[in-house]
Amino acid sequence: MPPGFATEVFLVERPERELLPERPWTLVGDQHLRGAWARAGMPEPAHALWVTVPEEEKKLPTVIPWLERWATVPLHREATVVALGGGVLTDLTGLAASLYLRGVAWQVWPTTLLAMADAALGGKTGADLAAGKNLVGAFHFPRRLVACTDFLASLPARHLQNGRWELVKTAMIQGEMAWAMEMLKDGPTKLNWVEWALAFKAGVVHRDPRESGERRLLNLGHTLGHALEAASGYQLLHGEAVGLGLLGACLMAEEQGLKPFPARFLDPLVRRLAPLAPLVAPWRDCLALLARDKKATRASGHTEDTPATEIQCILPRPNEPAVQRALPPQAWESPHARLLSLLHQESLRA
Ligand SMILES: NC(=O)c1ccc[n+]([C@@H]2O[C@H](COP(=O)([O-])OP(=O)(O)OC[C@H]3O[C@@H](n4cnc5c(N)ncnc54)[C@H](O)[C@@H]3O)[C@@H](O)[C@H]2O)c1
Repeated sequence: MPPGFATEVFLVERPERELLPERPWTLVGDQHLRGAWARAGMPEPAHALWVTVPEEEKKLPTVIPWLERWATVPLHREATVVALGGGVLTDLTGLAASLYLRGVAWQVWPTTLLAMADAALGGKTGADLAAGKNLVGAFHFPRRLVACTDFLASLPARHLQNGRWELVKTAMIQGEMAWAMEMLKDGPTKLNWVEWALAFKAGVVHRDPRESGERRLLNLGHTLGHALEAASGYQLLHGEAVGLGLLGACLMAEEQGLKPFPARFLDPLVRRLAPLAPLVAPWRDCLALLARDKKATRASGHTEDTPATEIQCILPRPNEPAVQRALPPQAWESPHARLLSLLHQESLRA
């Protein structure tokens, strides 16, 4: 990790009690992990909260009872909150920790591959509003991140693949085609991929904690991805939507005159994504969402004939780092159409 980075990072096989905070501390844990936590001999504070929070409940009302509980314990300013779960639980717990007494310390123990490779690192906490995902939140860096790979044993296969897409994204941001292609193959997730993704993200976040420049690169695949995720009514998981967004970004890069990705890269990418074709929403549904993208800004030099908004988009390049381009939402129509056609061709072929 970069020297002076706000979060200490541990990637271990088994949970270790020595990595828990000094007392006083409390826990918000995913109910799915309660047995594994106990079997590993991990302690449980008397006022621990074991919860199940589906993506639809990643909302402010979900954390109010947690805050009320902490206030009655009572949890004091010097206490540390430990979040044990996937990205939904860790985003919400981090947000609650940032709100309670105007901010108490927290640790994050991610238990999904997506949270280990991406969501748990970087200090972004949040909740959804009716108007969109993660529209409310705070930057609140956890003191420590502890990723225990043994927890992945109980994670359903769909969620393992979901997290794999964030790893592919990390490789593509850096133009690391060989890594990305390795990750597109069947087979177990390698520990060094997670280590490498965490180290890369930590470096970027350290240099640009508030996303004013370089950190935007981490949004590769997220422009079209977020629109597809929301337009599917969240039937697409976040990582799956990012995977589709990565293909869309490759096609967009080519349309913008950047070096095209070779078939030996695009073919396996399309093959992995083809089963998601039925969840890809039509263009008109995506356009409305793209225009409301959080990264959309009013276009400079806007006239009545030019689009009112442009989005900071990240475009990948084979064997070179990704680049930023400001593009109008409408520019995504053609990559969206090509993406759908490639997925359908692959589905017919398979
Ligand atoms: N803060 C960030 O920078 C950031 C970055 C990317 C994504 N996110 C957020 O992450 C969220 C998605 O996170 P996710 O993919 O981890 O999904 P999730 O948190 O919904 O977890 C997926 C499912 O797996 C269960 N689960 C968790 N760990 C398990 C385990 N070890 N064994 C069995 N079941 C387990 C959960 O209860 C849930 O049902 C989204 O809300 C997204 O916005 C945040």
